[in-house]
Amino acid sequence: MVSKKGEALLPKVNARTGRTRLIAANWKMNLNHLEAIQVVQKLHFKLRASDYEYCEISIHPPFVDLRSLQLLIDSDRMNFSLGAQNCYFEAKGAFTGEVSAQMLAKLGVRNVIVGHSERRSIFKEDDELIAKKVKAVFDSQMIPILCVGETADERGNGQSAEVLSRQVSAAIRSVSPDVLGNLVVAYEPVWAIGSGTPASVQDASEGGDIIRGVIESIKSKEVSQAVRILYGGSVTSANSREFLESSSLDGLLVGGASLDPDDFAALIEA
Ligand code: 13P
Repeated sequence: MVSKKGEALLPKVNARTGRTRLIAANWKMNLNHLEAIQVVQKLHFKLRASDYEYCEISIHPPFVDLRSLQLLIDSDRMNFSLGAQNCYFEAKGAFTGEVSAQMLAKLGVRNVIVGHSERRSIFKEDDELIAKKVKAVFDSQMIPILCVGETADERGNGQSAEVLSRQVSAAIRSVSPDVLGNLVVAYEPVWAIGSGTPASVQDASEGGDIIRGVIESIKSKEVSQAVRILYGGSVTSANSREFLESSSLDGLLVGGASLDPDDFAALIEA
């Protein structure tokens, strides 16, 4: 969507935090390229100019949908950011089945999810691999959305802060402070993902504060204040507002509720 003067609508800076908000839709392995086009068209139709001024809206479809959505967003001058769910850190070569950060950048991708808990648990991605992916995304002038979060067992054992600290520090250690302020970190407690039981706003905010504290201790206060922190895990239109009101959080990473354009529009507008 563009303004009356034909300019793209940019999200306004949140006066309380000095950062812009981001709501990202992680479609996971759902919606083929034809369904993706329909969903994005409907979402575009439902949203109003004020929604795009409130926050950046980033759509993360499966890789095979990216080219179709790139063409749709460009040709209809839609105001969505295009996103990806993963990438590989090498630029090219004999890595069957992988997609490089550079390839995504060529498709106009702006934000790339890295280290989602499903990648960590199902595909055995470790902190070292995730750190390489974060660097590769920055090197291709895109923004990593680094996912971190503790499992139910780790939470039960009182290890939440330790896990967040380990995951964040491993991922950012080798990133230059010049670009690190552009990082987005999504706090996604594993027990809250797809469970229908979100974290409380207080727990999500505390997670956000721990993450910002780790970045400050490794890099600087200035960098930590620039990084945007999202909450993800069973976010719906019924609870999105409370999370967005927390000054520790800059937005949301949404799974299930982002697949239906009515639900996702309601979640943004809430
Ligand atoms: P749900 O919103 O379906 O719980 O998924 C969260 C998530 O994993 C987003 O990355």
